[in-house]
Amino acid sequence: MSRRPLIAGNWKMFGRRRDLAEISALKASLGVLQGVDIVICPPSTLLAAAATIAAPEILVGGQDCRVGIDGAFTGDISASMLADAGASWCIVGHSERRQGYGETSVLVAGKAKAAMDAGLIPIICVGETLEERKAGQTVEVVSRQIRESLPPGAPATTVIAYEPVWAIGTGLTPTLAEIAEIHAAARQALPVDMRVLYGGSVKPGNAAEIFHVEGVDGALVGGASLKAADFAAIILAHPASARR
Ligand code: PGA
Repeated sequence: MSRRPLIAGNWKMFGRRRDLAEISALKASLGVLQGVDIVICPPSTLLAAAATIAAPEILVGGQDCRVGIDGAFTGDISASMLADAGASWCIVGHSERRQGYGETSVLVAGKAKAAMDAGLIPIICVGETLEERKAGQTVEVVSRQIRESLPPGAPATTVIAYEPVWAIGTGLTPTLAEIAEIHAAARQALPVDMRVLYGGSVKPGNAAEIFHVEGVDGALVGGASLKAADFAAIILAHPASARR
């Protein structure tokens, strides 16, 4: 059974209301695409407006959520709130949260469960640090993070994003052979067949070759998703992006 490609953009802590024009421009330049799911994860402040502009061709997602349901948690956002704002996806376990806020895989699994319970599809991020790579622990780390970050019973719609920490925002990427090797190993750790994205310095110039790697079901794109022209070029580099 073939897995439908997914290309997701993570705006991180960037974006003002004026940047919603990038979503309109992206829609205009892509037209109606068949064969590829496109998701943009803007900051929460822009989510509701982005959802309205993006629909129906592009879906939107949150970048993180809290475990559990609404409650007295100042500054946090629940998965249910994201859904109410128009999100249908949610990134969890991004390395900027694992590293910057000490989020463990157990916590990430709780967030993924909260997302699923709210009707969102979680994009669960995993990936090794440079030290772990140098120590030859990449496969072990990625496999363990997948096993521990996937909530029990996670359905096949759940998405894993393999993002080497040292490749994020650095312009560095693993070789295509390394991406293929880790994606194959990641797949071994999955309880059911799921989409596994590559993330980390995906740009218009390298997207096509990455999309052709065996086992890569799409990309999670950071910096290059902020500008419509770059994100459109990445999406159109996917062989499944046939214009209708
Ligand atoms: P990058 O970020 O594309 O800017 O490297 C990827 C990510 O953090 O998801």
